[in-house]
Amino acid sequence: MSFDLVLFGGTGDLAWRKLMPALFQAFRHGSLPAGGRIIGVARDDLSDDAYRAFIKGRFDDVELAKRPHEDEFAGFAALLHFVRMDVTQAADYARLAELLKARNADTVVMYVATAPGLFTSVCEQIAAAGLNGPQTRVVLEKPLGHDLASNRAINETVRRVLTEKQVFRIDHYLGKPSVQNLFALRFGNALFEPLWRRENIANIQITISEDLGVEKRGAFYDHTGALRDMVQNHALQLLCAIGMEPPINAHADAIRDEKLKVLRALKPWTVETLQQHVVRGQYSAGTINGVAVPGYRQETGVAPHSQTETFVALRAEIANWRWAGVPFYIRTGKRLAARDARIVINFRPTPHAIFSTPAGAVNRLVINLQPKDGLELHLLAQGPDKRNQSRDKSANQNANPSTMQLAPVQLDLDFDKRFGSQRVGAYERLLLDVIEGRLNLFVRSDEQEEAWRWVEPILDHWRHDTHEPRPYAAGTWGPSAASAMIARDGYCWSEEC
Ligand code: BG6
Repeated sequence: MSFDLVLFGGTGDLAWRKLMPALFQAFRHGSLPAGGRIIGVARDDLSDDAYRAFIKGRFDDVELAKRPHEDEFAGFAALLHFVRMDVTQAADYARLAELLKARNADTVVMYVATAPGLFTSVCEQIAAAGLNGPQTRVVLEKPLGHDLASNRAINETVRRVLTEKQVFRIDHYLGKPSVQNLFALRFGNALFEPLWRRENIANIQITISEDLGVEKRGAFYDHTGALRDMVQNHALQLLCAIGMEPPINAHADAIRDEKLKVLRALKPWTVETLQQHVVRGQYSAGTINGVAVPGYRQETGVAPHSQTETFVALRAEIANWRWAGVPFYIRTGKRLAARDARIVINFRPTPHAIFSTPAGAVNRLVINLQPKDGLELHLLAQGPDKRNQSRDKSANQNANPSTMQLAPVQLDLDFDKRFGSQRVGAYERLLLDVIEGRLNLFVRSDEQEEAWRWVEPILDHWRHDTHEPRPYAAGTWGPSAASAMIARDGYCWSEEC
């Protein structure tokens, strides 16, 4: 199968930080279909060779194991081409069209990795140049819109020129092996399904924490914030994967239909829940791994009195038969204590305790997404026998007919160790899926709109809120209000208890 992959924004950050390394890994693994071209598109004046040299230089920033050797790069470089284009100019699309039509590849992928403001015009121009034929697939990066109205406007334009099956909306979390495993855990095993409901589960915690700050993206981030950057997409997609009903099969629409139902069932916000169930924070100066780091407002590109949130914690509920009343806590932020993404399922305690159990100990399933990829099942077992240490045996026996003292133990599955180098990274998988035309791991427009609909009241509330975001020192787990929020339900974040 021949393919042409056109990379709009071909010299941009995303292209050399994520896409080229992923395409190279696919090439190294032999999974990139033979007979392909990767065509970088940007305004720069570069020959094919100069583009190859540019990409090669950028691999110095990639982790060592993923950098190409000389001869490997030579093979990969043969796929790389460059077209100088101003993506606002129709004439430039005509030249691109000529290049593509001369080859007439089986599949043409247009990866729109430009500034988000250009998405719609790029799609319109692609169509105007006659490049939206059935062999064309268009990949749109997040953020797709700034709110519900702008997201709808993009989707409407895209719908006018492309069919839904041609549009691949990326949420790279769906491509992570650990997130695939979440689907495998739920729908490839029967073990947990009977337990996966309100009768057995007390609460669910989704944490995506980063120790990095806003890096060089201060200006973008200041206009975006954690709710739009992480919650509206990555965190809600994880919530869907946990909360959805088993799909009838593994086809894209069967999966996306079920995710959509979860988003539709999210309990709408009220004035009261907006005040009590959402915490926004912003990092101040602090220490990460022993190194002093500046506060958010001191970052390059950030306004000196910025109100943008770098942390969000919220409490959601899925109002349906399976989940009614079970709190789903979501928490994400920059410059937190660690880079850590995990989902914690806290099961209900035994209905009646006959053994002595450490306070707060419950069965817990921890789905580690990153940096560790694995599963932990926390159980209670007979701990070391304390009888000989007891000073007052008779009193003890009166208090408790059994000498059993339960202690927490855990089963630990490490998928990195088990599958190691055979695992495929998120962007590598997603790019191969686009080339092969598989939509399962991409977000449909209605899902995306529904997610925007749900977060929009929070954005509106903050717009009118006179309180500043709550400060937290870099290197901590966020503002104390996030702990207070969960404590009101009688629970605590998993690292606190
Ligand atoms: C991106 C956000 O979508 O995800 C970034 O724009 C964030 O701000 C990144 O850092 C996190 O991705 P990962 O894969 O490193 O967890």
